[in-house]
Amino acid sequence: MRSPRQRAALLSAGLAATLVGGGLMTSPTLASAAVAETRYEAEAAPATCDGTIDSNHNGYSGTGFCNGDNEVGAASQFTVSTSEAGTSTITVHYANGATADRPADVLVNGAKALSVSFEPTGAWNSWTTKTAAVQLSPGTNTIRLSPTSANGLPNVDSLDIEAGSSPQPPGWPSQCARSTPIVCRFDIAPGNYTVTAWIGDRDTAGNTSMSVEARRRVLPAVSTAAGTITQHTYTINVRNPEGQPTGQGGTGNPGLNITFAGSAPKLSGLTVQAATNPLVVYLAGDSTTCDQPVAPWTGWGQLLTTRVSAGAVVANYGDSGESSGSFLRNSALFPTMKPLIKRNDLVLIQFGHNDKTTSAADFRGNLTSMINQVRERGGEPVLVTPPVRRQFNGTRLTPTALHINGVGVDLPAEMRRLGSTLNVPVIDLTAKSKALVESMGPNESARLFLRQAEDGHRDDTHFSEYGAGRMADLVVEGVRERNLSLVSYLR
Ligand code: GCU
Ligand code: CA
Repeated sequence: MRSPRQRAALLSAGLAATLVGGGLMTSPTLASAAVAETRYEAEAAPATCDGTIDSNHNGYSGTGFCNGDNEVGAASQFTVSTSEAGTSTITVHYANGATADRPADVLVNGAKALSVSFEPTGAWNSWTTKTAAVQLSPGTNTIRLSPTSANGLPNVDSLDIEAGSSPQPPGWPSQCARSTPIVCRFDIAPGNYTVTAWIGDRDTAGNTSMSVEARRRVLPAVSTAAGTITQHTYTINVRNPEGQPTGQGGTGNPGLNITFAGSAPKLSGLTVQAATNPLVVYLAGDSTTCDQPVAPWTGWGQLLTTRVSAGAVVANYGDSGESSGSFLRNSALFPTMKPLIKRNDLVLIQFGHNDKTTSAADFRGNLTSMINQVRERGGEPVLVTPPVRRQFNGTRLTPTALHINGVGVDLPAEMRRLGSTLNVPVIDLTAKSKALVESMGPNESARLFLRQAEDGHRDDTHFSEYGAGRMADLVVEGVRERNLSLVSYLR
């Protein structure tokens, strides 16, 4: 809890509205956590500065400050972590030696949270602070100061975060049916949305998971004691159709569907807002990647979402049966995805399973075309070699399992070579999944894939939910090894 002195200071800064006591009553677990203040320097990665890091006006902390370019949108961004959900107080240390205010938007995890104005401080070496309250989610969050006038930001030295009390949960959302599981439907257009769920109940214990759209898991089941409400924020991609882009397995419903399942789902609030400029991770792939609408099939892209924090979003264009060539040409697939790609978005490209008779030249040609078109849009292509099949010869996987295709092309090797020729990062999911499947061995590895007895289907190619989760973990490992921009959004 805040000390009276801190509380008084905040009240005098005009933040009374965020300190309404109700949140303390409904969330004793959150409210009892200690207040901790942490400083983040504007000059230290993962902070970013759309300008230069300068040190010519003294009085700053650390080794310098962000001198943003004098233009709209030239931002100073901080990546902060907190263990607590709820309202946090941010304090920006800045200097504005000019004569006019410098207004800016504050974006939290890509969504505009509030506007602030950085008033003149009299001189560039005269530093002061600006304080505001923002909602953070447990884990990593981005806080972006984005100027809205042509003068840009003031010089920004650092940002302090003080985790505070939880806000009052907004209450039962009218878009949700009081059923078990709890099913909610928001009538909104395709796009990216910031979704915040208050999970738990003031009177009753709960056990609640959260998934969106076509069986896209965002939160595995969490247990909450009576009186404990935890806040969870995600950026969610809404597409129409909602599962596979060609509609295989069902087209779902237009708008955003959110399901709270678990053994005793409890919900105390749910808000949905348009997300501003999130990092989008597009997936171009096949049935091992895609959002499978029908159980027991599960693509690894469906579980990647649980590993990604708000501010970044997975847009899964994977589709069953697609090869490098069919994905490139089918109007529902690459041609639909391409115009949506914006600067710095990631596009993970995984093909091989259905390139059974593709020649080496055609495979390279298809991938090269996708890579070039992603780059045309300012996006960053990433090649992902296909996950192995479970086909053993003794204790080792067969060439077919390793995607040597029917005309003798070593598809993963082609992808690795293309990656180095075109300077495209490669996540070697073939090698990673080979190591995993072989280390588990011919019997134990069965549970990574669909099993006849459990799932009513077996092909040793498609993953169980467990296997899809393990594949998602291997992709995450590759994202870290290649230090892709998604790293700062991993949970
Ligand atoms: C001056 C000052 C910079 C500042 C800039 C501005 O050039 O030295 O530190 O960033 O004005 O107007 O933004
Ligand atoms: Ca400047």
